[in-house]
Amino acid sequence: MDSYIRKIRDESPTFQSHIYLNHASTGPLHGRTAEALKKFSTHWAESNFEEVYVACEEVKSQFAQLINATAEEIVFTPDVTHGTKIAVNMLEYDKKSNIVCYWNDYPGQVYQALYLKEKKNVEYRPVPDKKNEILVEGFADKIDENTKIVLLSHVQWLSGYKSNVKEIAKIAHENGAYILVDSIQSTGALVNDVKDWDIDFLTCGVAKWLIGPNHKGLFYINKKLIDEFYPPFAGYHGTDFGSRDEPYWNVNKLEFLPSVDKFMDTNPGNLLYYVANAGMKILLDYGVDKIEKRIMHLTDYLFEKLDELKNIELITSRNKENRSGIVNARIPNNVEIVKKLKEKKIIVSSRYGGIRISPHFYNKEEDIDRLLELIKQYHS
Ligand SMILES: Cc1ncc(COP(=O)(O)O)c(C=O)c1O
Repeated sequence: MDSYIRKIRDESPTFQSHIYLNHASTGPLHGRTAEALKKFSTHWAESNFEEVYVACEEVKSQFAQLINATAEEIVFTPDVTHGTKIAVNMLEYDKKSNIVCYWNDYPGQVYQALYLKEKKNVEYRPVPDKKNEILVEGFADKIDENTKIVLLSHVQWLSGYKSNVKEIAKIAHENGAYILVDSIQSTGALVNDVKDWDIDFLTCGVAKWLIGPNHKGLFYINKKLIDEFYPPFAGYHGTDFGSRDEPYWNVNKLEFLPSVDKFMDTNPGNLLYYVANAGMKILLDYGVDKIEKRIMHLTDYLFEKLDELKNIELITSRNKENRSGIVNARIPNNVEIVKKLKEKKIIVSSRYGGIRISPHFYNKEEDIDRLLELIKQYHS
């Protein structure tokens, strides 16, 4: 454990009392995010929001750095699902159109496909898996020249399976389809590269691996596409308002901004982005390459330890290239065990019949040892 990790742990209120292995659910409270919360209340008390505005804007460039984009390609959204809604609602569909999505992806994704099926008669083509492995061929079988968009989480919320986005994006583009990636189970934990993946849209949120508070979204659109699309929803935050000192909107004519901000159709709020800024700094200071390596090291260790247990079944793939920060192991009485662990101040989740364990870079081997010691005890 290096000095940076020691410092981050020492500063975090959560780590003083808890073993926190639940980043696939939400992030823990860190010293620096707690400090930002306090600072926000001071700004609020003093009606002084200038610093808040600056910090919120900075979130876009921080996020852009984490996914290899530019701040000019990022817009605030209320949540992750809203980003998907923007993308699917600005496309034109005809009688032959279809939409492709992994069948068991996050409901926020799948429901957009089902909604288009109900509302616009768009054919929904669910991609199957093989024991939770989502093969590129599964997408190749479903995508054709009538596919409008492919929806895919980089990392699956239940199994932790990391998909080969680059290959799937290539197939989508060869067929003239767009691709949207939900990266909330990945950004902040794994190296993301929208340019190398060559994707059109990405939707994410500041909770979970970005260690911000619940729940605010960030939407990326490839800059080549900004002019191509008319916003699917009208919001006054996507139009010119003059100046902050004396805002003025032209209510006789709807004129969207020529930038990515035209897609900002709701009031973004600022508290949660202000706090998220402090969380993202923690990650950027350490470096996402190092974070990914450390998470892989911890999950390797976790796999080793889980192998010592009898009567469990891994939901998570062991393939190195498809691994992430999420490890889920099916185990009898998982819900009961997770409750008992919480009583002992060890935080994990029960999902899909398993115990879903999701360490971040500042967790340590001893956290995993203690978790497994208790699981063994409750399991036998
Ligand atoms: C893959 C994935 N997408 C999206 C979300 C959240 O979506 P939203 O911000 O719309 O609630 C989650 C979890 O909360 C998730 O695991």
